Amino acid sequence: MAERDPAGRIRLGPNDLLGDRDLLPVAAGGHRLLLVRAGARIVAAERACPHEGADLALGRCVAGRLLCPRHQASFDLRDGAVSPGWSFRALRLFAIEAAPDGLWLGTGSDLHGPDAARPGPPPPGGHESSAGRKAGR
Ligand code: FES
Repeated sequence: MAERDPAGRIRLGPNDLLGDRDLLPVAAGGHRLLLVRAGARIVAAERACPHEGADLALGRCVAGRLLCPRHQASFDLRDGAVSPGWSFRALRLFAIEAAPDGLWLGTGSDLHGPDAARPGPPPPGGHESSAGRKAGR
């Protein structure tokens, strides 16, 4: 179970939590997140795709982008931006702090905007709105 420190950070586990994996689903603060190895960085992302809620833990990470397994949109792991041709919102990302005592999900850890400062609640029934379909579909 994740522990929270007095500053509000949430400890996710040891620094080698991902092992040799690129993607690892985690629960933190009652939310479903995904740890993603992006080169030398580790980033936390919301686990449900902002398009139609696909489980991004079933996707893959290629060249700094997280690919959704359902419709193959991809997300830039620097800012969450969706690949060209899609009109739905960016993937919410959360900064991870690698400290001597392990990996922490920081407070105020959004990387791209104030509405992403905290992990969102899990999507109802595992799916989110279908708003924002790919242009031309
Ligand atoms: S559900 Fe992820 S791109 Fe459609």
